[in-house]
Amino acid sequence: MLKEQVLCIMEKNIGKRITGGELAKILNVSRTAIWKSINALKADGINITAFPNGGYVLNSKSDILLAAEIENRLNTILIGRKISILPSVASTNTQLKQEASKNSSLPSGYTLIANEQLNGRGRMGRSFFSPKDSGIYLSIFLRPSMLLTDISIITVIAALSVKYAIYDICKLNVSIKWVNDIFYNGKKLCGILTEASIDGELSKINYIICGIGINVGTKKETFPKDVRLVAASIRSFAKKEFSRNQLISAILNHFEKLYFDLMHGKKQKIISEYKSSLFMLGNTVTVSQGSDCYTALAIDIDDEAHLIVRLNSGELRTLIGGEISVRPIEN
Ligand code: BTN
Repeated sequence: MLKEQVLCIMEKNIGKRITGGELAKILNVSRTAIWKSINALKADGINITAFPNGGYVLNSKSDILLAAEIENRLNTILIGRKISILPSVASTNTQLKQEASKNSSLPSGYTLIANEQLNGRGRMGRSFFSPKDSGIYLSIFLRPSMLLTDISIITVIAALSVKYAIYDICKLNVSIKWVNDIFYNGKKLCGILTEASIDGELSKINYIICGIGINVGTKKETFPKDVRLVAASIRSFAKKEFSRNQLISAILNHFEKLYFDLMHGKKQKIISEYKSSLFMLGNTVTVSQGSDCYTALAIDIDDEAHLIVRLNSGELRTLIGGEISVRPIEN
């Protein structure tokens, strides 16, 4: 879209005056088209000053989601090679599922990003608070040829990708709470919801949708009361300025590396990276499964990324993600 291209140029010239003629020349369009784009950007809330005698200044970084800004930083060959950005959607996972049902050739790696979700979905039927302009809500569509039992490793890959990307871009060393939440300073910054369509007869994966939701700049008081107790945003901790576009590109870049590792039989390498990123091993945790709730010691991760816990009785149990919620004991 032209307005995205105009904004990209202005982002590289923050605070500098640039004329409609210059923009028109760079983008090979008419000055009227530029004028229309500038008006559309201003209507989107972008802080642009238009001078009566010509010329425009972008006064501050916008943090608007731009496909071009994400694509410029990608070094992938599969993940994010096709990107769609929607201003608002019920849920990026649901939307992708609908697109997949209509289009059997939807490409693997296709990434759908929304600026807002009206019905963001979390694990175990919970909702995921997804206000506009302040978070990353994205879903990656995959057609892997792998065992059904490896579906949970996609979640592991997503969690590691987010962890590594947050370190690269924001210099924050976040931890992973089994199975797939990203935590910093005791607060949840990100959640992951992986869903799959399976051909039961052939025991084959049709596709996987890996949804990632990150609180980037949502203000504390904006979170619903119950969410506020556990959630926080990256920007309340990060010392560095960054854009959502930068963080998205970094996530997709890491995701591809790890996804290719998995496809090339390096699952145990991924599991061992995951294990060293977990913050709960060696701690007492509360395990809740349906109406059953007990405390146990989290002792290890097995070769399938399942959590092994030891009960007070000495009994060992292997917990499989998706069925169980595990909380560290509050001090
Ligand atoms: C959780 O914390 O329980 C998982 C949250 C997953 C949220 C993401 S946001 C993008 C994708 N679309 C959804 O509706 N959910 C996931």
